[in-house]
Amino acid sequence: MKIFTEKTQIQKFIRQIKDQDLSLGFVPTMGALHQGHLSLVDEAFIKNDMVVVSIFVNPTQFDNKEDLKKYPRNLEADSVLLEGYGDKLIVYAPTVSDIYEGHAIAEHFSFDGLEFEMEGKFRTGHFDGVGTVVKRLFEIVTPDNAYFGKKDFQQLAIIKKLVEKHQIPVNIIGCDIFRETNGLAMSSRNARLKEDYKQAAPFIYKTLKTAKEKFGTKSAHKVTEWVENEFANHKLLTLEYFIIADAETLKSVKRKHKNKSYRAFIAVYADDIRLIDNIALN
Ligand code: PAJ
Repeated sequence: MKIFTEKTQIQKFIRQIKDQDLSLGFVPTMGALHQGHLSLVDEAFIKNDMVVVSIFVNPTQFDNKEDLKKYPRNLEADSVLLEGYGDKLIVYAPTVSDIYEGHAIAEHFSFDGLEFEMEGKFRTGHFDGVGTVVKRLFEIVTPDNAYFGKKDFQQLAIIKKLVEKHQIPVNIIGCDIFRETNGLAMSSRNARLKEDYKQAAPFIYKTLKTAKEKFGTKSAHKVTEWVENEFANHKLLTLEYFIIADAETLKSVKRKHKNKSYRAFIAVYADDIRLIDNIALN
């Protein structure tokens, strides 16, 4: 495993890879790696000769300074997890100045409205920050294929839009959500959950699964009402939003149509920790 912290160095190494006609996969992360991240790396190794994992806590995508400060950082533990992949794995762990060159400011993007739904409503400027860093990382790493989790389904849709609009020559591959055995979607934030909240958090996916069942016979409105009620009665978890949306436009659905894919999206506070999840409904 090779670790680079400077873009000039990794770019030099990537030029050698390309000269040998080897394919390059890319998994961008903010570190605090867990099995969910590793499932993306595994997926990347199926189709690519070499895989770059970036580890960079991107300041411009945090609307909340406290959240940025508290975001777990542990490059040493991350390196241990990645070491098992051997010399076909390259880590890029840059500093803020290596990425932003003194101006840690987000570019402004239009993602044709995707950015105004759900997470975009509750996290101002978040997707400008994500777009800025991912575009920058794509320019540096120049991967053939890049892997993103459906855990952040809206982010995945936005990255596909970014690539299409800016004609970036990379394949975007969406990967399934990796869960704990109790159903809780794996997240770097889970490590911060206090014991009683950790016990309570699987309720989120359990509710999503029941919502899916109900969606077979009930309207989006009725299902939404049911979920809101479930959380209103919950002692520890606070619902921020539950939305049933068209899986392509991400706009919330009023009336169901045949031949459309729907997905339910949820954001919940467990104490001060914000957890998100989603599920395909049909
Ligand atoms: P981060 O939250 O570290 O996630 C990195 C990638 O891992 C994302 O594509 C995310 O969707 C995926 N991922 C996280 N948990 C997962 C799970 N349980 N199952 C499957 N995939 C999972 O997302 C970001 O970082 C950042 O916004 C980033 C894209 C790196 C830009 O800064």
